[in-house]
Amino acid sequence: MAKQGWSSLFGCFSSQYGGGGGGGGGGGGGGKRKIKGGGGGKKKVAAAGARQPQQRKLQSRLSFLDLSGSALGGMMVSPEDLSMSLAGSNLHIFTIGELRAITRDFSMTNFIGEGGFGPVYKGYVDEKTKPGLRAQPVAVKLLDLEGTQGHNEWLTEVIFLGQLRHPHLVKLIGYCYEDEHRLLVYEFMTRGSLEKHLFKKYAASLPWLTRLKIAIGAAKGLAFLHEAEKPVIYRDFKTSNILLDSDFKAKLSDFGLAKDGPEEDETHVSTRVMGTQGYAAPEYIMTGHLTAKSDVYGFGVVLLELLTGRKSVDRSRPPREQNLVEWARPYLTDARRLDRVMDRSLAGQYTPKAAQKAAALAHRCVSLNPKSRPRMSAVVEALEPLLALDDDGLVGTFVYVAPPDDGDSDSKRRASRRRSQNSADQSSGAAAVVQRE
Ligand SMILES: Nc1ncnc2c1ncn2[C@@H]1O[C@H](COP(=O)(O)OP(=O)(O)OP(=O)(O)O)[C@@H](O)[C@H]1O
Ligand SMILES: [Mg+2]
Repeated sequence: MAKQGWSSLFGCFSSQYGGGGGGGGGGGGGGKRKIKGGGGGKKKVAAAGARQPQQRKLQSRLSFLDLSGSALGGMMVSPEDLSMSLAGSNLHIFTIGELRAITRDFSMTNFIGEGGFGPVYKGYVDEKTKPGLRAQPVAVKLLDLEGTQGHNEWLTEVIFLGQLRHPHLVKLIGYCYEDEHRLLVYEFMTRGSLEKHLFKKYAASLPWLTRLKIAIGAAKGLAFLHEAEKPVIYRDFKTSNILLDSDFKAKLSDFGLAKDGPEEDETHVSTRVMGTQGYAAPEYIMTGHLTAKSDVYGFGVVLLELLTGRKSVDRSRPPREQNLVEWARPYLTDARRLDRVMDRSLAGQYTPKAAQKAAALAHRCVSLNPKSRPRMSAVVEALEPLLALDDDGLVGTFVYVAPPDDGDSDSKRRASRRRSQNSADQSSGAAAVVQRE
């Protein structure tokens, strides 16, 4: 995966603002770009005197500063300190030998994929691996450590995900912190990432209700983070970080960029600008000021990807269409023109009213003014009733109408797609996938 400095990303966004909607010049594939870079350092200061981690039952979440090296006068937290500090979180501590054994020595047959921080392998654990561990498949992420940044992101993930538990956050089962080894062990998410289902060519099109269910699940995960007693800003909301279980239940993964939210007397956290091109909120890229509303922008982009079936940034498209938000924005509040941007692979199999409401919501989420963006709990409230709109609407009552003999080839193509979509939905039990929580 390509990574780039935030200055080049800034260029992309400045053309977006100054240039009146252009998506920037062409070139390059439509790959994801990770933003990492300079900018103002973190403003929050550790309380006078480094707080020593101590063994405790986790009653309230320890913040990153409580546990990270920066709170220990810049020293790297030791494996012993980390395990003592997280003692109440039920995380299992694995040795590198144990993880080699469960992934068949990180064999290619167990390889799942690779992101910015290293490869991921499938493995199986049970009581024999660790007492108290239920038999289950797991995903083992092995960090390629380059300098201290890799360690910090690994530690961030352990500290946040180790302490946060919610049905829409992927479960961290444990970690390995031994010599130079830094690994993470997660519950295995059978259906992989949303990105794979939306954008990989071989994947069958996700039905409308499944898309809604995924959007609602991911929104609940973000709402939980934002409204926790100690709020968390997730900072890397995107389709590749939304994982799906066998039932298409969405869970957020990858907390390596997460941040503790602002203190009560602060409006934002000042950070280095990090995230992924196409998802990061414009004001955050411009100023480095991070708020929960930056995540809401990222959610809006993902909702648009679910509606349109297009990637947030796609360099293979004509310049005007490369930036999804800029391209789609004018259509989102225009009921008559919305179908022009809806995903063609849905083949019309959605309730127009639900799509209009979802599009209007996405429009608010990607507002250039962060204050106009809704809170994530309001997003959940707006999306949930849309599932019921579909119950009364098109799904299940679809009737195939043969195109006239002299019909144009486009309408024939659409009709045949509609047919195959309908049968695909039935054969995959797509309606059964939607469950209310
Ligand atoms: N818990 C999991 N269960 C199943 N598959 C997983 C799990 N975690 C990650 N994966 C898969 O492993 C691959 C790599 O994931 P990873 O999160 O490292 O990178 P990414 O999300 O593709 O990119 P990025 O570095 O931007 O996060 C992806 O295909 C992802 O779907
Ligand atoms: Mg990821």
